[in-house]
Amino acid sequence: MALSPQWLDQLRSRITLSAVIGRNVRLQKAGREFKACCPFHDEKSPSFTVNDAKGFYHCFGCGAHGDAIRWLTDHQGMGFMDAVKELAAEAGLDVPAPDPRVARQAEKRASLHDVTAAAQEWFVGNLRSADGATARSYLERRGITDATIREFGFGFAPDNRQALKPALSQFEEPMLVESGMRIAVDDKEPYDRFRGRLMLPIQDARGRVIAFGGRILDADGNGPKYLNSPDTPLFDKGRTLYNLHRAAPAARKSGRIVVVEGYMDVVALAQAGIAEAVAPLGTALTEHQLDLLWRQVERPILCFDGDAAGQRAAMRAIERALPLLRPAHSLGIVQLPAGVDPDDLIREQGAVAIERLLSEPMSLLDALWHFERDAQPLASPEAKAGLKARLMDHTDTIEHPDIKALYRRELLERFSAFAFPPRERKPWQPSQRRGGTTADISALSTDAAARLRRAIEGGSRDGFTFAVLSGLARLPDQVARHEEALIKLARRDRNIAPAIDSLIEASESLDSRDSSPISMEFGLPAPPEKSHFAFLDEGTDPGDAREELAEAVSLLVERPALEAALVAATKRFERDPEGSIAEQGRLRERLLALNERVKLFGRSRAAMARPANLTHTADTVPADAAETE
Ligand code: UTP
Ligand code: MN
Repeated sequence: MALSPQWLDQLRSRITLSAVIGRNVRLQKAGREFKACCPFHDEKSPSFTVNDAKGFYHCFGCGAHGDAIRWLTDHQGMGFMDAVKELAAEAGLDVPAPDPRVARQAEKRASLHDVTAAAQEWFVGNLRSADGATARSYLERRGITDATIREFGFGFAPDNRQALKPALSQFEEPMLVESGMRIAVDDKEPYDRFRGRLMLPIQDARGRVIAFGGRILDADGNGPKYLNSPDTPLFDKGRTLYNLHRAAPAARKSGRIVVVEGYMDVVALAQAGIAEAVAPLGTALTEHQLDLLWRQVERPILCFDGDAAGQRAAMRAIERALPLLRPAHSLGIVQLPAGVDPDDLIREQGAVAIERLLSEPMSLLDALWHFERDAQPLASPEAKAGLKARLMDHTDTIEHPDIKALYRRELLERFSAFAFPPRERKPWQPSQRRGGTTADISALSTDAAARLRRAIEGGSRDGFTFAVLSGLARLPDQVARHEEALIKLARRDRNIAPAIDSLIEASESLDSRDSSPISMEFGLPAPPEKSHFAFLDEGTDPGDAREELAEAVSLLVERPALEAALVAATKRFERDPEGSIAEQGRLRERLLALNERVKLFGRSRAAMARPANLTHTADTVPADAAETE
């Protein structure tokens, strides 16, 4: 029920507010107003005022504010309509009947459901009638059983522009048009939308029919195979999943939900005993649909055609999902053989074949990696850099900081292993000679070695910076790889510059001797006790060590850059206060996330070595292992 603002004003004007409130609160006259100790909060001196002329009460202490209706609802705990009725009785006003327009809208929604329900009934009847013979034999040819036909509510729309209207004569033409069943163009006679088609009802989560998909019967028609209801007040394509009302209970039982591309795939899966399948309605998965899926299970499985179009569809879904990822919420990806949909696969190889595929879906990360890796040939350094940029662009869209960091690290590792396969020459081996000094020290002059050591130890360093510098000294072949970033860092941070200069100098002098990958481990100060920085650990696989070091370097470089940007944003305050504050907020947030990653850094490697849930094991690593300050 909706009351007009005019009527409510009339009601207020006929009520003396102080009289209403005065029944519960002792009011004192104060000029044109009344005063009292506020009944909404505890106070000793009165800051609650009642103004009859304005019809409002207000408390300067707690901000309580309202009219007579509000008083009855907030102070007396009455329902809105009860309050209105009581005041209307007092004022001698009749409460008006419900707003006819609003009532009509509610009624219309209800009756649009009636239209689609009636249409569904009619389509089902048609399929059983003589008219439906061709459609029935089509279904039979496709191996769809009677039980499935009944369960999914298959129907038939006769090939006639004016058949539905007389069949649904209880509804006015505008309702038939608004429900999407008829099409009205300009001032011409409206006509039936679905003609000569096999009809599939689309139902909402409660199982009510809200729309239809209609399939042509002749296989080689040129036009589109399916015609769907347009968006209507009942039907929003992007918020609907075909078959969700049947799949949801099944998914809760099996802990699995499968997304396929087509209506008929859903039907075929159900007939093969897999009831927990849904399909979007001919469009890419929307955020809403992903949300709906995640409400059922933590890891919905997307099952797409292995051809290029199917791959692109999977990739679009992945891109939608990345920003929305939360701990434990992901997607599984199943890739079918190219040109085969689940329906074909079941027909050709039986339900076992699809079950087998569904039982080992690719992780979202794997799918992302494979898709981007195979997207373009990687013959040149530029192409390789392009791959890296694409991978990092994807990870940048992930909002959850832990998930983002883990994706970033994993993808960088895969990228490096792929783009820089180990050279022919013998890979660097963990030092055979225990003790501080390795043979490689001989490659550096004692002087240079001492300088480097002093440079790394000198200055005030937090644990993380020190670990990264030590890591570079241990893997000097990596210095060149990060040279550009390191030089940038040296320019920003005077304190670290001598160490970086020495590292570059040392790595160059080692390079020029063309030695095999070397370690400058010449009695560097021991890494922090219980360190879990893999690149400081002799046991780490050299490839892993390099990649972990690479990520650490990028974190190290990013931090002062963010700090500098923060200073700049703060300086802008005078000129552009709003922009400056917004920018500061954004930068602080990024800085916080970065520091979080740094903190996680030393320990997550240790955690990752264990197979169990990453986030949990990370928490069980002793806190001192993560000390960075
Ligand atoms: P498919 O062509 O894969 O559908 O299109 P299907 O269900 O496997 O159809 P059959 O096996 O040929 O009967 C996937 C989905 O894309 C939408 C439909 O939702 C369809 O189920 N689509 C497809 C349309 O909306 N219009 C079309 O013309 C084609
Ligand atoms: Mn198909």
